[in-house]
Amino acid sequence: MFNYLDSDSDEEYDDILDQTFFNKYHCIRKLGQGSFGQIYEANYKKEKYALKFEDRKKDHNLLQNEAATINYLKGPNIPFVKSYGFTTNYNILVMQLLGKSLENLLIERKKFSLKTVCMLGYQMINTLEFIHDKHILHRDIKPDNFVMGLDELSNKVYLIDFGLAKKYRSPKTLIQNPLVEKNKLIGTARYASINALKGYEHSRRDDLESIGYILIYFLKGRLPWQKINAKTKKEKYKKILEKKIEISSFELCKDLPKEFEDYIEYSKNLGYTEKPDYDKLRKLFDDIMKRENYNYDYIYDWTTSEEKETRRSKTETTNGYSLSNPETKEDEDNKYNYFYNNNNSHIKQNLIFENDGKEKDIVYCSGACSIF
Ligand SMILES: Nc1ncnc2c1ncn2[C@@H]1O[C@H](COP(=O)(O)OP(=O)(O)O)[C@@H](O)[C@H]1O
Ligand SMILES: [Mg+2]
Repeated sequence: MFNYLDSDSDEEYDDILDQTFFNKYHCIRKLGQGSFGQIYEANYKKEKYALKFEDRKKDHNLLQNEAATINYLKGPNIPFVKSYGFTTNYNILVMQLLGKSLENLLIERKKFSLKTVCMLGYQMINTLEFIHDKHILHRDIKPDNFVMGLDELSNKVYLIDFGLAKKYRSPKTLIQNPLVEKNKLIGTARYASINALKGYEHSRRDDLESIGYILIYFLKGRLPWQKINAKTKKEKYKKILEKKIEISSFELCKDLPKEFEDYIEYSKNLGYTEKPDYDKLRKLFDDIMKRENYNYDYIYDWTTSEEKETRRSKTETTNGYSLSNPETKEDEDNKYNYFYNNNNSHIKQNLIFENDGKEKDIVYCSGACSIF
């Protein structure tokens, strides 16, 4: 198994902080880092953005795929894209600034409460249903790739990092890509489905199985296949796979409400082309919320007392328990203007598109984008 799309490694860039990109975005703070990019907070006039940088010298050019995918999806729980472009060293995606990732929030707290997990799980299923309906798989579902919104959007959890996203079926015929064995892991071993770890082509079931492992990780603070000792990555992935196969859903979800065991069983038994019953999965969280008498008020474990007051006053008017998403600020203007820069590769900073409010057809200047 070789791991060239495995999202579990680290590296540092040192020429970004305090620099201005595209004559606008001044990077003031590093926000995070994954294996394929580094994220900085940037200011432009009074506005704040997140800039994702990808080293152009690396062979896996994922950021253009990500920019195209997020822009195509334009979802309520997916960040807004402002621009995409490149400099000599970096591809750069300018997007909506968000808050802390669920991984960072978990590290601060060790575990999440059942209520927080149900409210997150419900939204995560909504978001997966939304992207799957638009023919896209995420393929790297993990806590680092779910990020809370900021300010008046802090009630929402956003799905980010579409670098490994892929179109899984023809939008016209709805015929799915064939089930092939790729012999490489795409995604992150800890949260990957059993079939993804075996190296099979992903389908909707794999995104959903990963959500199941994440929710158990949130409730218990760890998963049984963490901290497995192995000499090589290959050996480690093999051991993780063996553990995932060996452990029963019952044992994995011991001491948790039965609904989590049902979730894992259901997602593990989905067929490759089977359309998941998203309603049935949402109902599992719904059932727990009702039984426990939890209010779907978007008050998470980390919600501050100030935020609690505003959210309580909002939900009081909705007659107590409500599962519908609360009204939030309309997603920002989703209209884009795209322009070519085919012959300008010598220019140091090159914007491929920027949102200026005028809608035009989406066009990309290289064939690298696998989605369109
Ligand atoms: N729009 C954003 N606003 C705030 N923080 C972000 C944003 N996008 C990413 N981050 C932070 O940076 C981390 C890495 O970003 P990500 O897009 O997942 O990069 P990678 O592809 O390298 O994994 C995330 O886990 C999150 O903590
Ligand atoms: Mg990531």
